[in-house]
Amino acid sequence: MTKVAVIGSGTMGNGIAHVFAQHGHSVALIDVASAALEKALKTIAGNLDRQVKKGTLAPEAPAEILSRVTTSTELAAAKDADLVIEAASENPAVKFDLFTKLDALCRAEAILATNTSSISITQIAARTKRAPQVIGMHFMNPVPVMQLVEIIRGHSTSDATTAMVMELSRALGKTPVEVNDYPGFVSNRVLMPMINEAIYCVFEGVATPESIDTVMKLGMAHPMGPLALADFIGLDVCLAILNVLHEGIGDDKYRPCPLLKKMVAAGEFGRKSGKGFFVYNH
Ligand SMILES: NC(=O)c1ccc[n+]([C@@H]2O[C@H](COP(=O)([O-])OP(=O)(O)OC[C@H]3O[C@@H](n4cnc5c(N)ncnc54)[C@H](O)[C@@H]3O)[C@@H](O)[C@H]2O)c1
Repeated sequence: MTKVAVIGSGTMGNGIAHVFAQHGHSVALIDVASAALEKALKTIAGNLDRQVKKGTLAPEAPAEILSRVTTSTELAAAKDADLVIEAASENPAVKFDLFTKLDALCRAEAILATNTSSISITQIAARTKRAPQVIGMHFMNPVPVMQLVEIIRGHSTSDATTAMVMELSRALGKTPVEVNDYPGFVSNRVLMPMINEAIYCVFEGVATPESIDTVMKLGMAHPMGPLALADFIGLDVCLAILNVLHEGIGDDKYRPCPLLKKMVAAGEFGRKSGKGFFVYNH
């Protein structure tokens, strides 16, 4: 059993806390917003109940799993952790500040992981004095359901840290895949150009969003079309990741489509705002 601290209790943080607690680890779930912590506990409880209804979890399990999760608005609640997983907002300044503080606060042996989708692990690690113990642990949304964890080695991440995190991910029932730290890692470097190209197809009037998604679903056996997936991820998040790829690699093939920029400027973020390429009723 590992003592885990999860920083940020939003979409990803609550799922990460859920999976660790379900596999017997104690979890300190930390967020600056107490409302986010309350919402996270409700989400975890609701998702555990769904697992019970599906028959994949014993009826008495949710109470025991929830008893392993404590919440706090203070970063100090991470001080005893063996492993910290940062899943706070995708903002470099927020993450750099958190890692400087966590490095000062946490035990010397603790591993500091980040769930970032696109920020350089090497740059985050450089904010600490323990770069060999800093690593990317990129869970996919929804965390309790998705099999993959992309494990990202920063420039100085040690073999021991990588081996520990790979093993731990397997013990959570996940399939970890090791990659190196370059913009977008593998998942977003491959996914985002496809989404961007689908958006260019809308922009240039090649086809409607419905037609583009149908081509990719029925023709390529993708479970979701690229535009529905972009709405699910969040168009603001897609734009931020494309900007990281464009600036980080410096190749214009990653240039975000002007239509994507325009939709984000108009507040059309996809599913979470109710409108993106498709319309959602909340
Ligand atoms: N949403 C996805 O599909 C997805 C998938 C993979 C990875 N990620 C990554 O996971 C991370 C979290 O994303 P999310 O979608 O859960 O975001 P979110 O906006 O749902 O949640 C972020 C949470 O972090 C909290 N927070 C902000 N600053 C903090 C601080 N200094 N200390 C503690 N808490 C703080 C916020 O209050 C919020 O509750 C990001 O790095 C994102 O790139 C997201």
